Amino acid sequence: MTQIRFDNRVAVVTGAGGGLGRSHALLLASRGAKVVVNDLGGGVKGDGASTSAADQVVAEIKAAGGEAVANYDGIDTMQGAEKLIATAKDAFGKIDIVINNAGILRDVSFQKMTEEDWTKVLNVHLFGSMYVCKAAWPLLKENNYGRLVFTTSAAGLYGNFGQANYSAAKMGIVGLAKTLAHEGAKANIKSNVIAPVAKSRMTETILPPNVLENLKTELVSPLVAYLASETCQDTAQIFSVGGGYVARVAVVESAGVNFDPTQPLIPEQVAERWTQISDLSKAKPFANAMEAAGAALQVAMKA
Ligand SMILES: NC(=O)c1ccc[n+]([C@@H]2O[C@H](COP(=O)([O-])OP(=O)(O)OC[C@H]3O[C@@H](n4cnc5c(N)ncnc54)[C@H](O)[C@@H]3O)[C@@H](O)[C@H]2O)c1
Repeated sequence: MTQIRFDNRVAVVTGAGGGLGRSHALLLASRGAKVVVNDLGGGVKGDGASTSAADQVVAEIKAAGGEAVANYDGIDTMQGAEKLIATAKDAFGKIDIVINNAGILRDVSFQKMTEEDWTKVLNVHLFGSMYVCKAAWPLLKENNYGRLVFTTSAAGLYGNFGQANYSAAKMGIVGLAKTLAHEGAKANIKSNVIAPVAKSRMTETILPPNVLENLKTELVSPLVAYLASETCQDTAQIFSVGGGYVARVAVVESAGVNFDPTQPLIPEQVAERWTQISDLSKAKPFANAMEAAGAALQVAMKA
């Protein structure tokens, strides 16, 4: 099999000063990518800032013979994201790959969640992913090439106690990534999402050490590299990854029930057909919103 390489490709990896982002950056650089290592260098809750996290990863890449520059801007503002993309353009002249990975946690039950807990988390994950893509978008279009990899979470896809802010942000990212996949299609921009599980400062207090041992970040980055490569022709997809497991995740719709649209529909009819409405045995994913809406439109058109 041909080796997946990133020679002459420029990658921006957000939150690459530690954890998963560091691992993604090291792998891309080891395969020839010129990497912009972005990290604000703050705490897990989004407090503080330091240049050392990004600097250290840049030093690691260079020591291994790779090319990288550091950027310390917070991606949670449009201005920060623009400075990040300018760093890439100034250092390497273009952008081919954006890995949206930066993240923080402010876990607390919804009852106790403050507006600040909500806003800060949404700002970094959802707005941050949007700001970086927004700043990179004209360059990717100009390139007629782009690979976007976003980071969601099982918490977003399925919900998790104490993570209303994080879950909302992470599911918002899925919508953003899927729409950019459609809008970027003509310019050969592929946009996909990963839902990782890995040992990092985010998980080291919630998972037991023997489990963490097998959740190396290096088991997540190969999927990211594949999605960031020219080889990858998939777009608008979500993948679950961690501990050696890689799987496609999809939003699916049951075969459903077609009531006669020319007749009134009462709640009791819905209740009567509930088992069939909920039956996922013939469920399928849709490629886009129009295709999904088509299921309802077809019934309406036949009537
Ligand atoms: N580790 C897991 O099991 C897991 C599970 C699901 C999702 N994720 C997601 O993976 C991503 C990476 O998380 P991780 O586990 O490596 O945690 P991490 O805390 O080690 O990494 C996150 C990095 O983002 C940086 N960062 C935070 N705010 C930033 C900002 N405003 N601008 C720039 N950088 C910023 C941090 O400094 C940190 O280095 C996150 O989006 C996280 O939500 C991780």
